[in-house]
Amino acid sequence: MNMTVPLLDLKAQYAAIKDEVLEAIHRVVERQGFVLGPEVDGLERRLAEYCRTEFAVGCASGSDAILLALLAHRVGPGDEVICPSFTFYATAGSIALLGAVPVFVDIDPVTFTMQPGLVRERAGECTRLKAIMPVHLYGRCADMAAFVDLGAQLGVPIIEDAAQAIGALDAQGHRAGSRGSIGCFSFYPTKNLGGIGDGGMVTTNDPHLAERLRKIRVHGERTRYYHDLIGFNSHLDSIQAAVLNVKLRYLDGWSTKRRQNAARYDGAFAAAGLPGLVTPQPPTGMASHIYHQYVIRVPAELRDALREHLRENGISTEVYYPVPLHLQECFEYLGYSEGDLPESERAAAEVLALPVYPELTVEQLDFVAGAILAWLREHATAQPAPAS
Ligand SMILES: Cc1ncc(COP(=O)(O)O)c(C=O)c1O
Repeated sequence: MNMTVPLLDLKAQYAAIKDEVLEAIHRVVERQGFVLGPEVDGLERRLAEYCRTEFAVGCASGSDAILLALLAHRVGPGDEVICPSFTFYATAGSIALLGAVPVFVDIDPVTFTMQPGLVRERAGECTRLKAIMPVHLYGRCADMAAFVDLGAQLGVPIIEDAAQAIGALDAQGHRAGSRGSIGCFSFYPTKNLGGIGDGGMVTTNDPHLAERLRKIRVHGERTRYYHDLIGFNSHLDSIQAAVLNVKLRYLDGWSTKRRQNAARYDGAFAAAGLPGLVTPQPPTGMASHIYHQYVIRVPAELRDALREHLRENGISTEVYYPVPLHLQECFEYLGYSEGDLPESERAAAEVLALPVYPELTVEQLDFVAGAILAWLREHATAQPAPAS
């Protein structure tokens, strides 16, 4: 059987909601008001309600959302911020851009999120700890109960990098971005809630932080040309907000479809019981995974060959992320070396993200699972299963 399975098919999503999207864009263009405005206000209201927070503040990207959160907490040169190394660059890049120091902590190999016990240890070695930033990687929440406790004990805010996790629930049933002091979201087009360009949002329950965030995103202005704070330009475009207002109505349905797709992969992989293939563990307690990514692990020496084999068979996959941040050239000055964060390094060598987007057909899912299983049966029999 020949089939093409892209990693993501935004055209399929667009086809289903095209009329609504074009109408929403048309309204903005007719009004000729392109920056912030009623669409952004409406999205902020809806997003705050959706994330179960008091406030939401739109901004230009997920990266800016993190910058805004750090600035709102007055993070500056020489301050330390604990974050994972196994994440997208922007988590730590935003810290470093402010002259602050990203302090990298290893992940739990099952959840791919920072280990609270290791964070506590590292925090004890810090002299200028200003914040802790867990990342809800792949759409699964970090152990927020532990981080909220730890933050309270240490007297530092927990900033949630929830860029990949909109709508996910943690083990106590709280939404991503609702328990930390600030939650940071991305509307990059490939996200579960994606715009037609860049966009981002911060959430908080603290009215003072909300006010600071609102000012910082408009050059620190109190009113036009009167600047209380040092800020920068990080507007959410009206057109983005208009499109996101439409898409938000579909988000839960899309996340449900992603969970169903993940369950189909889980079933196929579990039935095969192949050593060497590790699939995502189902979340525990009241947690709910939104499967921004469905990520398997295979032995490091096989991963790239499997990926190439799938590509030759029309199946697109991706490696999020091939180099953990503590080993990136740009962070060499921090002085980390190989072996410092073994779980992050092992994950970088073993992970493979499979297509899991909502519009996938059962035939496509079975084709992907079948192709992986057939190849691994041939190549992975003598490989030990990665411990997890
Ligand atoms: C974990 C994480 N943090 C931050 C970001 C930055 O978001 P953006 O691309 O909207 O700037 C992303 C986006 O890929 C992300 O995945």
